[in-house]
Amino acid sequence: MKIAIIGGGPAGLYSAILLKKQHPEAEITVYERNRADDTFGFGVVFSDATLDNFEKYDPPSYRRITQEFAYWDDIAVYFRGTVHRVGGNGFCGCSRRALLLILQERARELGVTLNFEADIEDEARFADADLVVIADGINSRFRDKYIAHFEPEVDLRSNMFAWMGSTRPLDAFTFIFQETEWGPFIAHAYQYEAGRSTWIFETDPDTFKRAGLAGLNEKQSAERMAEIFGWFLQGHPILTNRSMWRNFPMIRSKRWVKDNMVLLGDAKATAHFSIGSGTKLAMEDAIALADAMQQAPTVAAALEHYEQGRREEVEKTQHAADVSLVWFEHVDRFWNFDPVQFAFGVMTRAKAITYDNLTLRAPDFVREVDRAFAKQVRAKGFDVDVEKPLAPMFQPLRLREMTLANRAVVSPMCMYSAREGVPGDFHLVHYGSRALGGAGLIFTEMTCVGRDARITPGCTGLWNDEQEASWRRIVDFVHDNSAAKICLQLGHAGRKGATKLMWDGMDRPLEQGGWDVVSASPVPYFPDSQVPREMDRAAMDRIKAEFVAAAERGEACGFDMLELHCAHGYLLASFISPLTNQRTDAYGGSLEGRLRYPLEIFEALRSAWPSHKPMSVRISATDWADGGITGDDAVRIARAFAEAGVDLVDVSTGQTVHDSQPVYGRMFQTPFSDQVRNEARVATMCVGNITTSDQVNTILAAGRADLVALGRPHLVDPGFTMKAAAWYAAEGVFCPPQYLPGKEQIFRNSVRDRQEFEELKIKAKPKTRAELKAEATKPLAAE
Ligand SMILES: Cc1cc2nc3c(=O)[nH]c(=O)nc-3n(C[C@H](O)[C@H](O)[C@H](O)COP(=O)(O)OP(=O)(O)OC[C@H]3O[C@@H](n4cnc5c(N)ncnc54)[C@H](O)[C@@H]3O)c2cc1C
Ligand SMILES: Cc1cc2nc3c(=O)[nH]c(=O)nc-3n(C[C@H](O)[C@H](O)[C@H](O)COP(=O)(O)O)c2cc1C
Repeated sequence: MKIAIIGGGPAGLYSAILLKKQHPEAEITVYERNRADDTFGFGVVFSDATLDNFEKYDPPSYRRITQEFAYWDDIAVYFRGTVHRVGGNGFCGCSRRALLLILQERARELGVTLNFEADIEDEARFADADLVVIADGINSRFRDKYIAHFEPEVDLRSNMFAWMGSTRPLDAFTFIFQETEWGPFIAHAYQYEAGRSTWIFETDPDTFKRAGLAGLNEKQSAERMAEIFGWFLQGHPILTNRSMWRNFPMIRSKRWVKDNMVLLGDAKATAHFSIGSGTKLAMEDAIALADAMQQAPTVAAALEHYEQGRREEVEKTQHAADVSLVWFEHVDRFWNFDPVQFAFGVMTRAKAITYDNLTLRAPDFVREVDRAFAKQVRAKGFDVDVEKPLAPMFQPLRLREMTLANRAVVSPMCMYSAREGVPGDFHLVHYGSRALGGAGLIFTEMTCVGRDARITPGCTGLWNDEQEASWRRIVDFVHDNSAAKICLQLGHAGRKGATKLMWDGMDRPLEQGGWDVVSASPVPYFPDSQVPREMDRAAMDRIKAEFVAAAERGEACGFDMLELHCAHGYLLASFISPLTNQRTDAYGGSLEGRLRYPLEIFEALRSAWPSHKPMSVRISATDWADGGITGDDAVRIARAFAEAGVDLVDVSTGQTVHDSQPVYGRMFQTPFSDQVRNEARVATMCVGNITTSDQVNTILAAGRADLVALGRPHLVDPGFTMKAAAWYAAEGVFCPPQYLPGKEQIFRNSVRDRQEFEELKIKAKPKTRAELKAEATKPLAAE
């Protein structure tokens, strides 16, 4: 077998090693345009988990790599004169040069031919090769040569960064967030060998310009960094090595394989440096390729296997890297945060590290985070314990004169079970049991303001006396038997009206018994949906009056709060999104025009709704579709509603157009809540695939939302909040007297369950290399 490898970086060299071990008879050649020890850059990092993989696949190179490594366990966050350290992170650093020399030596030992100063211009010279590995890095010539086939997507990020070094010793992965006269600078720094550390500097494009970095050469810009971070460097210099400022390109390729050519490492996909995974991905690609070559009968089958098997893992890492880079790009959002809350945000930014997880490894840090949170609550006039505070989920919140006992919310969910808009016994039991389960706030399902405003024939409404009486019975039950508050969500289905019950076909038009639907513009939802009638002024006035009348009935029922539904493609959302609003009058065009009617309704409701009771608005903060609403628009929408008197923005996303492309995942809508809350400076509620109380606390403690709503988890577990209260020992959670024995039992058992869980977790966690090294080098106690 003949294998040609273009590029002698970590991906190229490691794949040469693994493939040669597998096929000792194969003729394997690596072509590298640079000289053997011509290495640019400073250090690279690997997690313990990655090193375990290296140990398994090639013990000799693993041993040499680990001999050269610097280990650390802590992450340190420097911000506004404070430092917070969190242990248990298990990372290793190594010089990129040392890594490449080790891999070169190992490859040679195995019989791989290494051709340096061989700049490959045309892969035609490898026509007789069985396999051509393209590992030519981020600016891959061969990926670009076959751009139409590989279809790479290159997202050039806005922040500027430069990779530099220093002799400053470091005993932790160090993030420094530095205010300067030009704006914020960030240093990501770690030691990779004795007396050498990597320093990646990052800043936003405006600060970059203001700091005059565009006009400075490499040496001058290093001097500027040394001035900015001089207080920390303690006289150590900043070193350079082709340390040019650049924008990070986030690269994803649609295909990784062409005939017998395969893309590996940065050539196929990149991951932002803030999660330190570039070299890991490159070397794990080599592992995946070797595995595929081992298992498949032909090279073609192996390449197919490699691409299919590896893609999900790479995309998961890229997603975590994306989330992390966005956090760094928007660091100014958190600049006014309490430093400990800021540090908590840094730690939890990429979702892998959570509140509970940090409680296990850095309990003092989490206690400090809890105290800072409790202090903020106390500053709002609540008499909460600041010394031994409850977890954020169990801290109260006030909106106007409504006080919520905790931050867990039952999200609005249609039950499609009303008759002519009248909620029945099902609804009483449904809402009643969730109130008894301990949530601080319960939302009703979208309750429609008129018969023709319904989504389906099963939707609840509030346009007649019978409906009002039924809702009053539910509200009274909640108030008489629980501490929960209840919010009425009012909406109009617009073009998504006259559709089937969820279980008969979501958003599909009714075949019989339907009614005429209206919208901002005559654009149907599905191509075969009913074409809505474009609303004229008379229709706008009529529907506005329906909203006001429903709100007045809501007040008569005793609801504590009112939400206006402006999300998910229903009537008011269809005005806001440019994808569904094609009007040329004052209610279309710019965002200001598209918001005019929803704001008119909001203002009418705000006047009709008692001034001591709060109001929220639910928005779709992105349409997940080209040309639609984006997070930046959501900030402007939130500001407009805040000026009109909204107390809370309920941040949802999508459902505007049938062919949207949402990116799902754990807590997938939380970044939008974060953006709206911390840019528009308005209270938010987030929602969307949040399934554990650990996630609820992570979101609240990091200041990404003020309330957290859970929909589907509450469908199967009305007692979600009670269980969480037991886990976090939040004794004060309300429990109806009838259920007290159950509460006592779960609180008692939870102490033991939690202890067992934590012990198990600690036992199951292998010692980090940093811990093992510390143990091995610990001096023996003097006798
Ligand atoms: C600022 C910064 C910080 C980073 N920090 C980290 C970190 O902390 N941890 C980490 O793991 N990763 C980090 N990385 C990422 C890491 O450097 C890369 O992801 C990794 O090196 C990718 O390996 P690769 O083999 O795919 O590509 P590369 O290492 O780029 O290797 C490609 C090789 O191909 C050669 N080549 C290119 N074209 C040709 C040609 N036509 N003919 C012959 N040879 C060619 C190049 O000279 C190069 O040697 C960082 C990257 C940057 C930019
Ligand atoms: C069965 C069901 C019905 C829903 N009905 C409504 C509704 O009436 N109004 C609304 O704003 N959102 C509605 N939603 C969306 C939820 O409020 C929530 O935003 C969504 O389910 C995501 O949260 P989750 O992942 O916690 O379920 C509904 C969701 C479900 C599952």
